[in-house]
Amino acid sequence: MTGERIKKALILAGGQGKRMKTDLPKVLLCVLEKPMLTWVTDACEAAGVVEICVVKGFGADKLETFLGGKFRTVMQAERLGTGHAVMQAREFLADGGESDTLILCGDAPFLDSDTIEKSYAVHIENRNAVTVVTAEIANPAGYGRILRSEDGDLLEIREDKDCTAAQKQICEVNSGCYWFNTQALLGVLDALKPANAQGEYYLTDCVGLLLAQGKRAGAYQTENPDVVLGANDRRGLLALNNLAREVIIGRHLDNGVEFVCTSGVVISPEVQIGRGTKILSGVVLRGNTQIGENCVIGPNCVIENTTVGDFTVLNNVQAYDSAVESHVKIGPFVQLRPGSVVKKGAKIGDFVEIKNSIIGERTAVAHLTYVGDCDVGKNVNFGCGVVTVNYDGENKFRTQIGDNAFIGCNTNLIAPVEIGSGAYTAAGSTVSGKVPANALVIERGRQTIKEGYAEKKLKARTEKFAKLEEEQ
Ligand code: UD1
Ligand code: CA
Repeated sequence: MTGERIKKALILAGGQGKRMKTDLPKVLLCVLEKPMLTWVTDACEAAGVVEICVVKGFGADKLETFLGGKFRTVMQAERLGTGHAVMQAREFLADGGESDTLILCGDAPFLDSDTIEKSYAVHIENRNAVTVVTAEIANPAGYGRILRSEDGDLLEIREDKDCTAAQKQICEVNSGCYWFNTQALLGVLDALKPANAQGEYYLTDCVGLLLAQGKRAGAYQTENPDVVLGANDRRGLLALNNLAREVIIGRHLDNGVEFVCTSGVVISPEVQIGRGTKILSGVVLRGNTQIGENCVIGPNCVIENTTVGDFTVLNNVQAYDSAVESHVKIGPFVQLRPGSVVKKGAKIGDFVEIKNSIIGERTAVAHLTYVGDCDVGKNVNFGCGVVTVNYDGENKFRTQIGDNAFIGCNTNLIAPVEIGSGAYTAAGSTVSGKVPANALVIERGRQTIKEGYAEKKLKARTEKFAKLEEEQ
């Protein structure tokens, strides 16, 4: 064959996964907070697959919404088996002429790019019509078994339910991942018959059919058997989570990250953590999160799509789509909502919420404060209980606070509003207009004293309490 071979992938994701008892398509259930389907599509992309098509069926709308048009999809209206799922994708397979197609199950998240690439090399080298990715696993129940001849040649894949007692002893299983010569696959799809225990069209029967046509079928056994594991029920899903959790924490340990204990620690696969950083219990790190070196994260943090610099301490913090620079201290009990940037050396204390705001270098927001839609300069001090009043019920407005400003306790800042650099707001002020640099704004009621006002009231209350005391 001449010319570049095109690598494309078909991911089978039409099944309901009845045993999961969910309204979601099974492939959208997560392992380490990442949908199983995304594990699979990421592995394909990392292995240089140029075109991906997903077979949808149960919960197709939800799957479409999740994919957001990123990949081609094909509908399998009835779920009649993995072979039937592939039949629905004939057009995708035929597009682009002579090439190889990778077929994968959306419910086996650990099939990695390394396995995809190595099995492809074997597929090409042996000029196979199909190369099945297999593994020897300790507990093969539920998987299709690999039947081989006495010489070790691949003969057939037989589903668990169709196996004899002796065949069930075989520990080499089908991963559900295969490289097919696309034309060869198209040549046998129509010959699949639902003549088996489950009355389904099995994709696995293609192996026997191709061999019967005199074509070559081979197997690539994975180096790490865990990469083939799939989840068919909630116990299986938890087992995948536990396995992946251990592997990922192990990787961070090797990189010099410190874990005092790993209780409640869940780290998504893409998260990066610098050396010398300590992760305490109850820390969930999700999505595209990067933590720098020598930080202390935890206990009890949820950090999602957020970057954190070096030497930063996050204690009981929730942070989403935000950036925290180096030498920052945040917590306890702080939420950073999307669009927040906390600059170098800043301090955010207890019960503070920051949203879509920039907190300048060395600025302190120490307690009980809401900062929303606000651009704060450096060296600013917020007293306790400051509120940016950023929403009038219809629209949101920004607040600007210059460098070195001092915001007194319980100040309300009615946005849009600007506090000049170095300006002070008096405690309890509700600031409604621009404050020039270096000024003091006092915007609150003046003190009024009514001498002796409480005496009469106090007498009545004293009598009431005296009576209560007698009665008890
Ligand atoms: C399948 C393989 C089995 C292999 C195992 C690996 C077949 C017949 N069996 O079994 O040999 O060891 O995977 O995990 O292929 N799907 C559809 N449409 C359907 C049926 C399934 O899109 O009509 C999708 C599912 O969403 C799932 C994948 O295909 O992502 C595999 O289906 P599943 O029913 O889980 O197959 P297994 O019984 O696990
Ligand atoms: Ca499965």
